[in-house]
Amino acid sequence: MESYEEISENTYLLNHSIGVENLYRDSFTNYKVKNARLNSILFEIHVPYDSKDENYGNQTSNKRKRLKTLKPFDETTQKILENHSLVNTQLRRNLNKNAANNKKALEFVDNFNACSNYDSERCFRGQNSSVHSVITEMDGESFIIPPSVTFINSSVDRFSEYIAQHNKFDLIVLDPPWWNKYIRRIKAVNAKSGYKMLTNADIKAIPLERHLHENTLVLVWCTNALSHIEAVSKDFFPKWGVELVGCWYWIKITSSGEPVCKFNEPQQKQPYERLFIGLPAESTMSTTFPRERFLYSVPSAIHSHKPPLYGT
Ligand SMILES: C[S@@+](CC[C@H](N)C(=O)[O-])C[C@H]1O[C@@H](n2cnc3c(N)ncnc32)[C@H](O)[C@@H]1O
Repeated sequence: MESYEEISENTYLLNHSIGVENLYRDSFTNYKVKNARLNSILFEIHVPYDSKDENYGNQTSNKRKRLKTLKPFDETTQKILENHSLVNTQLRRNLNKNAANNKKALEFVDNFNACSNYDSERCFRGQNSSVHSVITEMDGESFIIPPSVTFINSSVDRFSEYIAQHNKFDLIVLDPPWWNKYIRRIKAVNAKSGYKMLTNADIKAIPLERHLHENTLVLVWCTNALSHIEAVSKDFFPKWGVELVGCWYWIKITSSGEPVCKFNEPQQKQPYERLFIGLPAESTMSTTFPRERFLYSVPSAIHSHKPPLYGT
């Protein structure tokens, strides 16, 4: 089963759950374990995060009222909103209308966080050089390690200790813990739920420039804060020696196709995130790489959990 579907030119509907399931299908040697998939409860996002919001769902028809009362949307938000209106019927046809709240999914994540002993601060590393997925125990937690993988769990400031200078990569994906108020707030309520954050200077200091070949693709997930957006194109990419060749958008929708929150004025919470794409100046792929894509999916209830993009 495909994990994505083309809705219109440059617009795709992704299925996060199937993407992960496909990755592990029949990849285990252990006869007891054949497949692995994420618990479907995680994707029971049936209503917008703030469903009490009265403006919700009426955004295109309420345009006149909005323009009177709110500042205009920025160009990007306007473009994504228009694309959403264009593909809305198609999205709804491909999704299901379901239950009335997200309670099951949110409770599931709370319980998971409460039970997990995973310590993101601990340093450990390993390798699965076989062509099969393996299940292994580390510190009393079970991990699935996909085939042909080397992994390192460590703070990124120890990057050079673990990655040899001569190692070059085809693809580098960064999903940085951008400094933001929202994470500070969730950490204040529950220390286990948030994560540590990095400043723009910390992210820029990651020595990616040593690990590129002429066609290394560098992808950076970015929040909607202007200071983060500008840092990627004006600060990080020039330092790392890559040029901005595209920007893709991940639009988070409920199981019935509505955005998970309202489209907002600049600098406010949006139902989408950006994925910046960089390639070295001498890359032979720069002219052919798709510059813009709109990727829709029902997000997992785990905060910041990104959908798999292979295939798109
Ligand atoms: C935006 S989240 C990544 C989410 C992940 N890509 C996913 O799809 O589930 C940022 C991650 O950076 C981790 N992090 C925070 N400080 C870090 C550091 N100094 N070095 C490496 N990772 C760090 C956090 O624990 C968090 O898991």
